[in-house]
Amino acid sequence: MMLIVKYILFACIDVSTGFALNILGIFPAQGYSQYLLGASLMRKLASRGHKVTVIAPHRQNQVIDGYSEVYVDGLENFGADKNLFNRDGEYPIKNVISLYRLGLTFTEHTLANNAVQQFLASNQTFDVVICEQFTSEALYGFSWHFKAPLIVFSSIGPSEWISDKTGHPLPVSYVPHALTRRTTRMDFVQRFQNVFIHIFDYIYRNVYVYPIQNKLAQKYFPGIPHLDHIMYNVSLFLTNSHAATTEPVPITPNIIEVGGLQISPKKLPKDLQDFLDGVKHGAVYFSMGTNLRSTHLKDKYKNAFIRVFSKLKQRVIWKFEDGNNLPKLPSNVLIRKWLPQQDILAHPNVKAFITHGGLISITEATFLGVPMITIPIFGDQRMNVAKLLSKGTTIHLPYKSINEDTLMETLNEILNNTRYYQAAQKLSFILNDQQETPMDRAIYWIEYVHRHRGVPFLKPASLELTWYQYCGFDVLLVTLIICSFPLIIYYLLSKCKRPVKNKLQ
Ligand SMILES: *[C@@H]1O[C@H](CO)[C@@H](O)[C@H](O)[C@H]1NC(C)=O
Ligand SMILES: *[C@@H]1O[C@H](CO)[C@@H](O)[C@H](O)[C@H]1NC(C)=O
Ligand SMILES: *[C@@H]1O[C@H](CO)[C@@H](O)[C@H](O)[C@H]1NC(C)=O
Repeated sequence: MMLIVKYILFACIDVSTGFALNILGIFPAQGYSQYLLGASLMRKLASRGHKVTVIAPHRQNQVIDGYSEVYVDGLENFGADKNLFNRDGEYPIKNVISLYRLGLTFTEHTLANNAVQQFLASNQTFDVVICEQFTSEALYGFSWHFKAPLIVFSSIGPSEWISDKTGHPLPVSYVPHALTRRTTRMDFVQRFQNVFIHIFDYIYRNVYVYPIQNKLAQKYFPGIPHLDHIMYNVSLFLTNSHAATTEPVPITPNIIEVGGLQISPKKLPKDLQDFLDGVKHGAVYFSMGTNLRSTHLKDKYKNAFIRVFSKLKQRVIWKFEDGNNLPKLPSNVLIRKWLPQQDILAHPNVKAFITHGGLISITEATFLGVPMITIPIFGDQRMNVAKLLSKGTTIHLPYKSINEDTLMETLNEILNNTRYYQAAQKLSFILNDQQETPMDRAIYWIEYVHRHRGVPFLKPASLELTWYQYCGFDVLLVTLIICSFPLIIYYLLSKCKRPVKNKLQ
């Protein structure tokens, strides 16, 4: 009886406060597309009447009702001068180390920021904290500080970076490490490599990275318990994935896949609309994402692109950051510093997308049914492309193989051979066939976490086990001891008997 009254009361409180929640979102990564992904979620929450606050190194370019920002300065142009094309072909272990280093840099930069410190000292309160997963666990401390349940938002799928916090199984026999170039189908040698990269990552993360993250948490959130207590107490994980693009892998009930939640194409600006409306033979969209800059392409590659584009009947829209750096462009090519990617991909005349294979880009193209030419360079790009190849929606063009001939050949193939377009349309149909949109699903679950004041009933007990208990090594050890008992006794007995025998002989 008491319980029923309590729940009715709970429900009444929700209704009487008009449902609006105070939600904090922390998106520490410098990558602009990653920020846009998180911001699209926070904007939607604001449009539902919630009050959201976003801590990030980027800002919205307009005032939005119910949406306020704590701007972390100094990261907007972080690494802009670095030519990331040089990382082509980097070994996964090196990728692992540089990713963690980047994560630590962003974490400390965010926590040390003046605006963030002032924000922490203010007396605001929050009902839910959403934190982006970018190997930045110290930032989970915000949920402890505000005594609010924590939701982790991952811009990639279920991966090694969240598995030890979600408790989801990660069978290394078929789940590829995100920084390899593998799919879930690996031969013996590939599985061998995969196991070792996973083990290296696990040890590096636990022995080197987490202790530093814990130190950062202790420094910037005085009085916080050891980070383990917060890291293994996350309420829910939202991942930017869908089995049809990131492949089916085991997940637990505390993981909700919301891949493609940002997709909701809008009308194009007039100049781009006219440019695309007016084509006879279709158009090609070319963008290497926000971290890789077309400006940094070697001249020989740049010139190959321009010469091949000039021979096409199609029009080309190219995201190029500094037009002054280019020779004269043919009339069928339009360049811009920044382009509304999903709005372009949604235009029916866009027939192909030349991309670096970042998960956000390929998810947008896949949802919108556009076949791709992929030029992966680093990070999870190579794995994403390997997975797309198995779906038949892309042609892989290795960076170092780019020249006029290979480029022309690849473009001819993707534009003339309808099988890529058909595969892309089929995959698009699969992704769009969902009970609710990924965005609606994300919103539902965020409000759900609040309604239940955290969701401990979704948390697998695997999180309470040590690694050797989880792997069953303790049971195995005891089994071995028990099995070896008779052998030991037999051995001892035979030892005792032998001298007697010897004497008799
Ligand atoms: C927050 O509340 C404390 C105690 O109620 C008060 O001393 C402090 O000045 C407040 N800080 C701000 C920024 O309002
Ligand atoms: C774990 O999360 C729940 C739900 O948000 C919260 O009530 C509890 O205090 C948290 N525990 C720790 C140690 O932070
Ligand atoms: C496709 O095929 C047609 C005729 O077979 C050819 O003229 C054209 O150049 C090809 N390539 C592209 C990119 O359209």
